[in-house]
Amino acid sequence: MDISTVKTEPFSDQNCGTSGLRKKVSVFKQENYLENFVQSLFDSLEGFEGKTLVIGGDGRYFNEEAIQSIIRIAVANQFGRLIIGQNGILSTPAASHLIVKRKAFGGIILSASHNPGGPNGDFGIKFDTAQGAPAPQTLTDKISARSKVIDHYWTCDMPPVDLSAIGEQMAGTTAIEIVDPIADYAGYMADIFDFDAIRRLFANGFQMRYNAMNAVTGPYAKYIFEEILGAEQGTVINGNPLPDFGGLHPEPNLTYAKDFVELMNRDDAPDLGAASDGDGDRYMILGKKFFTSPADSLAIIAEYMDTIPFYKGKVYGVARSMPTANAVDYVAKAKNMPVYATPTGWKFFSSLLESHKIALCGEESFGTGSFHLCEKDGIWAILCWLHIIAHTGKSVRELNEELWQKYGRVYNSTQSYEGLDSEQARVMLDTLEKRLPALVGETYNGFTVTETGLFEYKDPVTGEEAHRQGYMILFDHARIFMRLSGTGSSGATLRIYYMMRETNPSRLTENAFEYLKPLVEVAKEITRIQEYTGREKPDVIT
Ligand code: G1P
Ligand code: ZN
Repeated sequence: MDISTVKTEPFSDQNCGTSGLRKKVSVFKQENYLENFVQSLFDSLEGFEGKTLVIGGDGRYFNEEAIQSIIRIAVANQFGRLIIGQNGILSTPAASHLIVKRKAFGGIILSASHNPGGPNGDFGIKFDTAQGAPAPQTLTDKISARSKVIDHYWTCDMPPVDLSAIGEQMAGTTAIEIVDPIADYAGYMADIFDFDAIRRLFANGFQMRYNAMNAVTGPYAKYIFEEILGAEQGTVINGNPLPDFGGLHPEPNLTYAKDFVELMNRDDAPDLGAASDGDGDRYMILGKKFFTSPADSLAIIAEYMDTIPFYKGKVYGVARSMPTANAVDYVAKAKNMPVYATPTGWKFFSSLLESHKIALCGEESFGTGSFHLCEKDGIWAILCWLHIIAHTGKSVRELNEELWQKYGRVYNSTQSYEGLDSEQARVMLDTLEKRLPALVGETYNGFTVTETGLFEYKDPVTGEEAHRQGYMILFDHARIFMRLSGTGSSGATLRIYYMMRETNPSRLTENAFEYLKPLVEVAKEITRIQEYTGREKPDVIT
């Protein structure tokens, strides 16, 4: 095995965002771009020689090429074993599970999550630690710093590995193992849930449609829902992972899964509609003519979690990201559990999950998970819903309405302005920040501001601090929260999160977007977004 070093020049833009490095495919295809980043990652880790690295991705364009290159660099850097999903496939939750199960040093996941794929789409790379958790900020900072000065990387001369053939081979002193990407994960789900109860639900005629959006979860869903749980053939649609996701934007929400939402709005719609994103960590739950907001989904899972045998007596507490509407807080209060509000990014849940401060956590962006893994997990969340439906005999709509009647409804919506000019967005937010203190006491469109500020966070376990995590404008029973996205690959995306709590029984079932309109007007007035960015309306509303 010929190991050699390649001289290289640093790239100035290899900064990790909310979850790893995400760029256009064309950026990743530049000579040495991926290699520089991977070597910067290895240079930032210690003591991995002889240890195991898990590698897999969501199957998007450039996945396989990137994996071949990572194999060469990992072999040259003296990893002892590489465990790779067959055909380069591993959903993010399955990768996380494999890392822990196989006691790996960590894992590299190739995905840009829900961002579009294909030659003109996005590509991404992220690292998970031995706990199967997203790399902490301290590590991603180190990688970014290293990438700014890197002048060589290690590689080796070896033929491409056949990723389709399950089995093991040696490359120098490194074992390369190609594994079934689904079996271990499916087995874990069977340990967590009472599959017999869900099987009975399907046997009794329960109808589900699962939209894999031509992304990674298709084979997982077909195996788990159709083969093991007995849902009828055809339950899974768009079930074959395609390099460009068949042109779909693999983000399960009201905007990008519009056709699916329409299907669920038909008179003959199935009982449950579910979908996942590109790499399988997000999910959406629909009922017949009914959309479940991610914040309500989190609250409903919290309400019933201790009826899942695996969690009995272990629902220690819950967490939500700060932008997520606080429906779950009311459930937690009733059950006497602590609630944590964290900055955006799954990594902030890791310490809380590992230290058993919480059992469940979720985000407004359709991600929910538990201590079963340190990543969010779309199929797991859908299985929670199947369990709850089997356990209660209630429909998706009934479960939501029951929640609102019991705790009040927290109307919420996220509105994103994508592809803004970064400078314009910055000026707008800087101006807003200066005005924040003066807003208190002012009334806009009937809403009086009670408090404003920047969201700051100190991790209760590690003590790590995260500053400037969003702009808060609070009112009685309402809130506007704002931040810039950290996952885009170009320009700036502004996210505005709205929430209003309603306890009047006669106002619980209104259309959320209509209900929130007056608050949206307030945000427009306070931010003067149109004046600064020229945008009249958001690109994505969920
Ligand atoms: C988005 C979501 C956030 C999620 C992240 C990774 O980040 O808002 O909740 O953790 O994707 O899936 P953002 O683009 O807002 O930085
Ligand atoms: Zn994702």
